[in-house]
Amino acid sequence: MCLSIDVVFTPDLLPFSNLAGKTVVVTDILRATTTITVAIANGAQHITPVLTPDDAFCLAASQSDTLIGGERHGVKVDGFQLGNSPREYTRDIVSGRQIVLTTTNGTRTLQACGTAKQVLVGSFLNLQAVVNLLAKDTEDVVFACAGREGGFCMEDTVFAGACVDALSTGGMTANLTDAAEAARLLYREHSNNLTGMLQNCYHGRYLASIGLAADVEFCAQLNLVDIVPRQIKGQVKLSN
Ligand code: MLT
Repeated sequence: MCLSIDVVFTPDLLPFSNLAGKTVVVTDILRATTTITVAIANGAQHITPVLTPDDAFCLAASQSDTLIGGERHGVKVDGFQLGNSPREYTRDIVSGRQIVLTTTNGTRTLQACGTAKQVLVGSFLNLQAVVNLLAKDTEDVVFACAGREGGFCMEDTVFAGACVDALSTGGMTANLTDAAEAARLLYREHSNNLTGMLQNCYHGRYLASIGLAADVEFCAQLNLVDIVPRQIKGQVKLSN
């Protein structure tokens, strides 16, 4: 089976990609998809990504026993129970709970993939689980990077490139777009020091400047969990 792989660097470019019939992997390494991966791995019932804090308050008010999480400018929104640090989403806090989440870039990227055949959530923490799932039963794959405020970001593209690299070796053949090949080259440049790459990228430096350097290191961990969250009808839940 030959995989066809594309990488879309920001959600603003998604309207130019035909996602119908394709598997989309959304990634926002710092920190939304890392947070979602941890929360689902720790037993959260499901996570509903919404665009704004007002949307989050409204949805939470309409359903019982719901945690509201997320950030603006990297900091927990006033009135939310949780911010967007994956380290907050521990099993004792999230197990069995419904969560509504809004972040600057990650949740809007998830919402922009509604026409895809299936939408998966990827982070370094579940990278191999994502690759294993894609290698098993998928032909057309699009990695949708959350980017930063409509622009390119290093960390999401390096993650996509790591997946492209894994899917293009080991006997698998893949038909790569130029964007996918560029992401793969970027990954190969940083593969020996992913933590350093995260610490030196723009948002990694910003998070460190507001006292969240520990989040940056946490988000660099490889293959901590063997699950792939999937967005189904607007809710992200366990898929495998
Ligand atoms: C994002 O949506 O870009 C990130 O989640 C922002 C953050 O968590 O700092």
